[in-house]
Amino acid sequence: MDGNGRWARQRGRQRTSGHQAGFQSTRDIVEACARQQIEALTLFAFSSENWNRPQKEVGLLMDLFLRALKSEVSKLYDNNIRIRFIGERTAFQANLQDEMERAEQLTRSNTGLNLAIAVNYGGRWDIVNAARQLAVQVQEGTLVPGDIDTDTFSRHVSLAGIPDPDLFIRTGGEKRISNYLLWHLAYTELYFTDVLWPDFSEIELHNALNFYAGRQRRFGRTGEQVTEKHA
Ligand code: FPP
Repeated sequence: MDGNGRWARQRGRQRTSGHQAGFQSTRDIVEACARQQIEALTLFAFSSENWNRPQKEVGLLMDLFLRALKSEVSKLYDNNIRIRFIGERTAFQANLQDEMERAEQLTRSNTGLNLAIAVNYGGRWDIVNAARQLAVQVQEGTLVPGDIDTDTFSRHVSLAGIPDPDLFIRTGGEKRISNYLLWHLAYTELYFTDVLWPDFSEIELHNALNFYAGRQRRFGRTGEQVTEKHA
């Protein structure tokens, strides 16, 4: 969800007003995905590198996350959305961690959209974390190194049990992954748009979905093999 700061600057406003506008976009897109029966949506709200931003901006973002959680959680529940947070959450203040836990518990039996919010998240952290868990199992004698394969590994990274993303969307013009779901994006279709996140409307979402609909997903096979399979 990139481009909040630039959106604000273009209007002569503080960066935080861009984050506030970005939050409105987030609400609209979550709602649109739920309505369109999309199975899972994962949003990158705060990277492990975002702590390096000015203290004031980090503090205001934390306030926004806390207020957003408090105000939105019952609506998520009512819309059958299950929310979870991925990332190293122990770095956050206690009341924010409590709200995350509360939202996860409240919505855990919901069966609609699987909404994941990546906070203090990094793709490399995720992979290292999984490797550490597997190493512990080997040390305890419950796992043999030769039994570690991609399926075992997938069960230990964040979002275990949720299918890998079909589509990655990055707003704001940059064409990079920025340490997002590195393990999960192996075969994901990548969509980059110059639109800034606060301007990313449902129409923009449709443009991204149309792009996806036009892709041929080969997963290593030839184009002919894929076409024959669907013929
Ligand atoms: C990146 O834009 C955006 C962020 C680091 C924060 C994302 C937060 C939100 C969209 C609002 C709240 C979301 C939730 C889930 C409550 P940037 O600041 O890097 O923009 P720039 O590249 O234009 O400076």
